[in-house]
Order: sequence, then C-alpha cells, then structure tokens
Amino acid sequence: MPHDAPHWVRSTQDVLKSVSLVPRTSHKGRVEEISDGVAMISGLRDVALDEVLRFEGGQTGFARVLDPDLIGCVLLDAATEVQAGDAVFGTGEVVNVPTGDALLGRVVDPLGRPLDGKGPINATMHLPIERPAPSIIERDLVTEPVQTGVVVVDTLFALGRGQRELIVGDHSTGKTTLAIDALIAQAHSDMICIYVAVGQKTSSVRRAIDALERHGDFARCIVVVAGSSEAPGLQWIAPYAGMTMAEHFRDKGQHALIVIDDLSKHAATHREIALLTRQSPGREAYPGDVFYIHARLLERAAKLSKARGGGSLTALPIAETDSGNLSAYIPTNLISITDGQIVLDAALFHQGQKPAVDVGLSVSRVGGKTQAPALRNAAGTLRLDYAQFLELEVFTRFGGVPDGRVRAQLTRGARIREALRQSQHMPFRLDDEVSLMRAVQAGLLDILPLVAVPKFRAALPEIVVRETDKTLMDALANLAATLADDKPDTPQ
Ligand SMILES: Nc1ncnc2c1ncn2[C@@H]1O[C@H](COP(=O)(O)OP(=O)(O)O)[C@@H](O)[C@H]1O
Ligand SMILES: [Mg+2]
Repeated sequence: MPHDAPHWVRSTQDVLKSVSLVPRTSHKGRVEEISDGVAMISGLRDVALDEVLRFEGGQTGFARVLDPDLIGCVLLDAATEVQAGDAVFGTGEVVNVPTGDALLGRVVDPLGRPLDGKGPINATMHLPIERPAPSIIERDLVTEPVQTGVVVVDTLFALGRGQRELIVGDHSTGKTTLAIDALIAQAHSDMICIYVAVGQKTSSVRRAIDALERHGDFARCIVVVAGSSEAPGLQWIAPYAGMTMAEHFRDKGQHALIVIDDLSKHAATHREIALLTRQSPGREAYPGDVFYIHARLLERAAKLSKARGGGSLTALPIAETDSGNLSAYIPTNLISITDGQIVLDAALFHQGQKPAVDVGLSVSRVGGKTQAPALRNAAGTLRLDYAQFLELEVFTRFGGVPDGRVRAQLTRGARIREALRQSQHMPFRLDDEVSLMRAVQAGLLDILPLVAVPKFRAALPEIVVRETDKTLMDALANLAATLADDKPDTPQ
C-alpha cells in the first residue's frame, strides 16, 4: 500500500484479518402472500421479533408475527414492489434509526432518511427504535416547568419536564396548533423539539413545518414524517423512531419535548396490521396489545435522576375523538396512560374560543407543583373563579336579574375568558403571563368592554419589557383606563 494512500484504503492484510472464518448460516424464505403492507413468509427459521427482513429486490420489512410456519412481515416499502414468490433473508438486526445532533434542523422519515433535500445525515450512532424505559431508580420527580407559551395551559394546567400530557379533541379543534405552539415557545428555552407526524395529510404536515420554521427555532427541531400514504409499517414505527431520536438528548442530560400527532392514527395502523396478520380482534376490532404498545412508548418519556445526568423527555401525544366521545377505547386508554389531558372542545372552537380548552375536563396531574411561583400566585383563584363563572352563566341565561356580587363575578369571568383567548403561533413569555394574570386578579380588566381585552393583551408584552416591577401595575392600569375610554361599547 503506498504511503500517501488515504486512511480509508485498507491493506490486503487488514481486509483478510477482518474476515470471519466461522461458518455462517443464513436461511432463505419465500413470500407466500402479499397484502396491503404485510407479507406472509414461509421457510424462514430463527427469526427474532422485530428483526429486519430483506427481500430480493432490496425492499425491507420487519417480523411482527412469528408462527411456526408463517411469519407475518410488516413492509417498510410499498407493497407493490414485492411479489409472491420473492426470496427473503433475515438480517439479524432489529429496526434502528440514526440518532444524534446531526438530525437537528432536519425533516426525516421514520428510518431517518432525509425528506428535506438538504443532503445526507451524518449520524454518529444508530439505535433500535424499541428501547426499554428508564427504571424507577433511574427516574426523578418532575420538578422543572415546561413553558408552553399558551396562557390557558401554563396558568391552569402547568406542565413539567418529564410529564406525558395527552392533547385530545375532535377533528379540527386546534390539537396540532396547540402542540406546535408549545414547540414554537421552546425557541426561548433550552428544550429540543421533536415533531412526529403519523398518518397526517401532507398539507397539514407542511403547515406545521412552516410554522416551526417561521416562528420557532427550527435548528433545534427534528421533524419525523410518515404520511397517510406511506406504508403502514413506516407509520407504525414512526412514534418509536421519534422517541429514540429524542432519547439521545434525554440521555445526554439535555431536555427534549416530543409531540406525537397522532396516536389514534397509529392505533388504526396497528389494527390494520394486526388484522392482516390474522391476530384476533378485541374491542372495536383493535388487537389486545394496543394498550401495551402505547404504554411502552410513553413510558420512555421521563425525568432522569442526577446519577443518570438529570435529562428529561416530555411527551405531548395527541388523540382524536369522534363527536367528543372521550370514553371510546383509544382515548380512554391514552387518558389512563398519561399524566393528564388537555381536552379541546368543538363547540368552544366554533364559538371562537381558541385554544378551545375545556377547563372542566382537562387536568395536569404532575405539572402543577412545577408551576413558577410567580405565576401560581398571580393565577391564584383563577380556576375557581372561572369555573364558578361558567356555572353562573348557564343559570343567568334563564333570566333573572343578578345581584351585585353575581354581576361582579360575571364581569370578571367574561374577562378571564377573553384573556385566555390566544391566536396561533404567538406564545407568551412567562413574564407576560404573570402580568396578565395579575392584571385580571387586580380587576384592571373589569372596566374594559370585552372587545378591548384583546387590545389590552396585545399591548401588554411591550409594557412588561419597558416597565420595572414597581411601575408595571400602574402602567397596566393606565393602559386599561385608556382602553376603557377609547371604546365605550355596550358593557356586559
Ligand atoms: N388559537 C388559534 N387561533 C386561530 N386559529 C386557530 C387556533 N388554533 C387552531 N386554529 C386553526 O384551526 C384549524 C384547525 O386546527 P388544527 O390544529 O389543524 O386542528 P386539529 O389538529 O385538531 O385537526 C387550523 O386552520 C388552525 O389554523
Ligand atoms: Mg391535526
């Protein structure tokens, strides 16, 4: 070998040394049957669960069902490219994906192949998509907050790092928007964002990526896409692949936030695969393990102990309901797996109350303790006031003249409702949220006509930046006074 040869040119001796002389056996199977996304294979022995199988045309799939004589293989490529009679080989590897910092700022498919035309991804490591969740001793309590920038979430349903919070609601009630807004808000934090789109329309994925690029810090985001027209196998592995990519940051002691949009579509894909591989159907025709596959997935979100580096992985899975039916199989499963849910209501959405969070049905079971003390003090009795207002509002609809105290409660409640409205992709900073809540509690908004509340909100961030702690409330009171004079609308 010449001395000036590049380092990757290996000498003949080196090559010979690396050749294993141990006998290696490999079985060859045969495709017996092929259906949408699934191939049934005979003649392959010694295959492991989730082992990658390679077809003679170069396509791949992984083994999901291991019967003594037939193996159910879920395809990762289009089924049209594989034919009955094709030869199949085991690879001895489980499905794995590239992980590492090289994925940041990229849009990839669930196997980590680039979809954004920005060239190859030089990942340093490949890890299996299925990895065990951290054990109890490796975990710590959820103690640090996640600032979502969405006022109604941060004030009433605060989230913590390591928490799993379900976003659930009917079709087109703002689920994706709420999750994307939480990712956008991380432009002002140290969290890495992972957005996994499973079975979504291409246009909706495009919109999400655009929003992240335009309003967020895309260089700290990874987008994993398995569109609705992709092979079911690709859609099936997408959430697991996203989790593995996110775990890289968790295990390095960093903090990551993963959105899985959505697990209803994932469950439907799981059902499709199960039916094609002839597993017995259970409730709503889902196979019995649908609870387990989602529990296993979401358990990987965790806050790690100091000994493990103190990193965290927060998960915001999304589920879609049908006509607001939270007690359907998949939503109830997910509600019981997660640490709380944010329920979006179609009726509220159509009334223009966006984000359409149903305050009565939503809950955050672990994040409350992590809420910034300033915000907790400022939000104070907000939840109670608001709940009482919603009840009173129903009663007063039946007529009757409310007395002074009730009228004051109605005035305050209506202002709280306005204050919780927020247009998309405009996250609030913590200081803004605290100041808004202090203004509500101090009654500054009570003198405003309802239409002026959005103006008050819009003007608030600038004042928060400009004023000091001492002068802030006075400045906000001045703002309220000008807006009250400005727009003498019909008081409500
Ligand atoms: N807070 C909001 N302000 C204004 N428009 C919103 C808001 N949230 C959602 N939307 C709009 O509502 C539509 C449906 O939202 P989307 O997040 O796609 O719903 P889902 O994911 O539940 O199907 C989108 O066009 C989105 O722009
Ligand atoms: Mg959506």
